[in-house]
Amino acid sequence: MQNQIDLGLDRAGASVYLDIEELLATRLLVQGNSGSGKSHLLRRLIEKSAGVVQQIVIDPEGDFVSLAETFGHVVIDGSAYSDTEIMRLAARAREHRASVVLALDNLEVEGQMRCAATFLAALFDAPDRHWYPALVIVDEAQMFAPSAAGDVSDDVRKVSLAAMTNLMCRGRKRGLAGVIATQRLAKLAKNVAAEASNFLMGRTFLDIDMVRAADLLGMERRQAEQIRDLDRGDFLGLGPAISRRPVAVRIGAVQTRAKSAVAGLTPPPLAAGEDMAALLHAPPVEPPVQPDLYNVPAPDAATVAALQERITEQKIAPKSCPELELSSEEADAIVRTVLGEMITEEGCTYLPPATLFQDFTVRCRMHGLKNPGMDAAEFRRIFSRALAGLDEDWSDERVGRLLALAETVPEDLVTIFLAIGIAVIAGDPCPDEETLAILYGTRSVGRARKMLEHLERSGLIVVRTDFTGRRSVAIPQLGLTQSTA
Ligand SMILES: Nc1ncnc2c1ncn2[C@@H]1O[C@H](COP(=O)(O)OP(=O)(O)OP(=O)(O)O)[C@@H](O)[C@H]1O
Ligand SMILES: [Mg+2]
Repeated sequence: MQNQIDLGLDRAGASVYLDIEELLATRLLVQGNSGSGKSHLLRRLIEKSAGVVQQIVIDPEGDFVSLAETFGHVVIDGSAYSDTEIMRLAARAREHRASVVLALDNLEVEGQMRCAATFLAALFDAPDRHWYPALVIVDEAQMFAPSAAGDVSDDVRKVSLAAMTNLMCRGRKRGLAGVIATQRLAKLAKNVAAEASNFLMGRTFLDIDMVRAADLLGMERRQAEQIRDLDRGDFLGLGPAISRRPVAVRIGAVQTRAKSAVAGLTPPPLAAGEDMAALLHAPPVEPPVQPDLYNVPAPDAATVAALQERITEQKIAPKSCPELELSSEEADAIVRTVLGEMITEEGCTYLPPATLFQDFTVRCRMHGLKNPGMDAAEFRRIFSRALAGLDEDWSDERVGRLLALAETVPEDLVTIFLAIGIAVIAGDPCPDEETLAILYGTRSVGRARKMLEHLERSGLIVVRTDFTGRRSVAIPQLGLTQSTA
């Protein structure tokens, strides 16, 4: 009985079971209108089979991340990783038979499709020694395998559809069993739907979907009407893993909750009429900064001089050099050598600042500089500048102004801000997102992108992409613009 999981009760009050072993060979298609209870059904299936089989959930709404707490699923935020990282994570999930939830709710539709396709393809391409049985549960499957071209680009639709077709048509041999749910059968690619031999059909209003559902259940057309009358949470099931004849099942309770569950009715707020109008028209608490790229006031000369003076005070050279035998130039040279060594070491940006500072002082000592004459904050400043690729001998007044502006940037963003600024001044292309991610000290390109957006929102940089795809980066407060391909 361990392979039989209890879905819920039939109309006579008897349990209806789903045979997981059979399901692995014969796949499952769930259909029902929005609110009919598909996600609830998938959750019941996942929870009940969690101890029996590996589960991989493709979750467009981020609804299933709550499985992690109770059942230990590993949540993968699709927006936080690059293509290669997503592929590696999928391959690892196969290798270690990890139950995972690929949460796609932070991505736009195209991103969701691309990420899911990359992940599914990597599951599919795993070497045969990793072909362990796993359920691959895809909610809102019509999005990943649409029956017709939609708003997304053809390329994206093709890769996503190919990944879903592979999963449903050729996955079984590799141990992958598709369990897919859709709001509308008519919107799901036919070849993807056709590969499932088990069906659970919930409340369906549109005739075209109702008739297709009835056909799949082997019901006569005149019986199809009953699919319209099903209550939320009620499904008609059929297939080798469920029952040989259509059986009605009321899906049982679940332990975890969907993130997007709205709890019943909520009375409208007390404010109404003019009060509500005033609330809607109130000025934003933090007005968005919209720097005008083409109308940047020229910095006044006095300010520039003052800023340069501040920069000069922050020179790398220690303010006082305790070693009698070392001149300040020699100490300065050691500091530069040590910084040069540190920044070329792979992974240095991922280390905590305290560890880096300790490493720095030890290395200085090994080079004969007992006290580099700076505290951790000062070290962080020069380390950021070195990482960003700043040549301290570069005498350009724009660099001075950039460094002064960097003083106003939140500490964790200084390195990427400087790296962009230096590229803009030097006329080089803006560093790509992967480089910026490393400089920021994260392995997540998505995170780096968020940091860039933060810099943009703060008005520190402006990134523009024209219709030919050319990007330009500007630092409006310095009046600097750089076009990049
Ligand atoms: N069998 C059930 N028992 C109790 N509550 C249920 C049951 N089925 C569904 N619900 C509740 O009904 C609501 C809608 O269900 P669910 O989110 O599963 O619908 P859905 O078909 O996935 O809709 P959508 O297509 O919009 O995602 C949820 O709040 C869910 O908790
Ligand atoms: Mg749902």
